Amino acid sequence: MIVTTAVDAYLESLRPEPDPVLAEMQAQAAREGIPIVGAETGALLRVLALARGARRVVEVGTAIGVSTLYIARALAPGGVIVSFEIDEARHHAARGYLDRAGVLDRAELRLQDARAGLAELRGPFDMAFLDGVKAQYADYLDLVLPLLGTGAVLAVDNVLMSGTVAEGAGDGHWTDDQIATARAFNQRVLSLEQFDGTITPVGDGVLVAVHR
Ligand SMILES: C[S@@+](CC[C@H](N)C(=O)[O-])C[C@H]1O[C@@H](n2cnc3c(N)ncnc32)[C@H](O)[C@@H]1O
Repeated sequence: MIVTTAVDAYLESLRPEPDPVLAEMQAQAAREGIPIVGAETGALLRVLALARGARRVVEVGTAIGVSTLYIARALAPGGVIVSFEIDEARHHAARGYLDRAGVLDRAELRLQDARAGLAELRGPFDMAFLDGVKAQYADYLDLVLPLLGTGAVLAVDNVLMSGTVAEGAGDGHWTDDQIATARAFNQRVLSLEQFDGTITPVGDGVLVAVHR
């Protein structure tokens, strides 16, 4: 946990109850140990998409569709989120949940390695959310940057890795290598000339940057 227990409890007290489909997704994720965004990260993604008036969004790492659902609900009319997932069972589960949530017409779910899929896309996109394998973040970034137009929002999850990225040492879950890679990645994104970014201690740490 990155914030204090008291802050976490306070945020939890403000959380709206999840709707039935989201609650089911969260229950499946908890049961099967599927990593999904928490409620605050989901809300941040929703707010970013709304603030941008996003119509075209690309996501790396659908899992069972939780972050996809938050973003899909915030898309401008006629908008679409293209989301990549390599795990077939998760991809199909996401399809079912998003259908039941009534947003499948706004979600283009692709069962494909994002490193191949991103290379096939044509921009501009209004927003990108990176949440796949952490060791591949640099590859996703290289492929996604050319797809982002002026004013586009880039969001990247887990950039603080339970706080270990700040401390610089592994904790048994996150390894020293992953932490070193994350530190280099964060430094790189925050140094990009065309982007203005910051790291928020929301959830597991979300990097947010805007294309100037
Ligand atoms: C952290 S989970 C995504 C969680 C999801 N964004 C959410 O919050 O609901 C990461 C997912 O990325 C998928 N993944 C890993 N490597 C990938 C790749 N190269 N292309 C697409 N998906 C990938 C994994 O199978 C996993 O389901």
